[in-house]
Amino acid sequence: MNAQQRQRIVAKHRDSLTRHGYHPNALYWSSREIQETRFRVLAEIGIESADSVLDVGCGFGDFKRWSEAQGRAVDFTGIDLSPDLIREALEQHPDARLLCGALEDFNFEPESFDWAILSGALNEQLHDDAAYAHEVIASMFALCRNGLAFNLLDARSFKAHDLQSHLPQEMLSWCRDICTDCSLRDDYLENDFTVYMRKT
Ligand SMILES: C[S@@+](CC[C@H](N)C(=O)[O-])C[C@H]1O[C@@H](n2cnc3c(N)ncnc32)[C@H](O)[C@@H]1O
Repeated sequence: MNAQQRQRIVAKHRDSLTRHGYHPNALYWSSREIQETRFRVLAEIGIESADSVLDVGCGFGDFKRWSEAQGRAVDFTGIDLSPDLIREALEQHPDARLLCGALEDFNFEPESFDWAILSGALNEQLHDDAAYAHEVIASMFALCRNGLAFNLLDARSFKAHDLQSHLPQEMLSWCRDICTDCSLRDDYLENDFTVYMRKT
């Protein structure tokens, strides 16, 4: 991702935070329910209480609060490109590990986390034939001990010029080149799919 693309994402979220404040709309989710449906499907990979979780593009760190509300508090690390969202996330979760940047800005040790998750953070249109998405997914796979779960917009039902959607089978096939145990979920929202990549 180049500097201009990063700046666009940061500016977009600065503007949405000014307009909506601490609300899922500031993250471009249409409702809390839609956001939490995605969380539920990600967690169904098998995330349990006390597991360590890296959330790439964590926004306000809402996955942490949602997990706690489900009775499964996790050891949460969130990273996000937007300094404005991270500032608000720290207000919401003063005790959490919340870091500003993209994954390639950090030097986490391989297999530092039980799980890695990503919800909505690869939806920006980068016009790169999915190269950045592949880079992030491969890095997340290296960083987790148990597996990773990520969601993307589904190109079979969703197309918008400023957002990136993907064909589920194409993405699954790419994931299978680096992980033998991959599966697809496309049973929860019309425009979205989730891939699970398990190591164990
Ligand atoms: C749709 S929001 C979802 C936020 C959060 N995952 C949630 O579901 O509540 C996407 C988030 O990804 C962040 N983001 C976009 N591209 C990113 C990147 N390359 N690295 C880190 N964060 C990124 C944005 O700043 C934004 O907070």
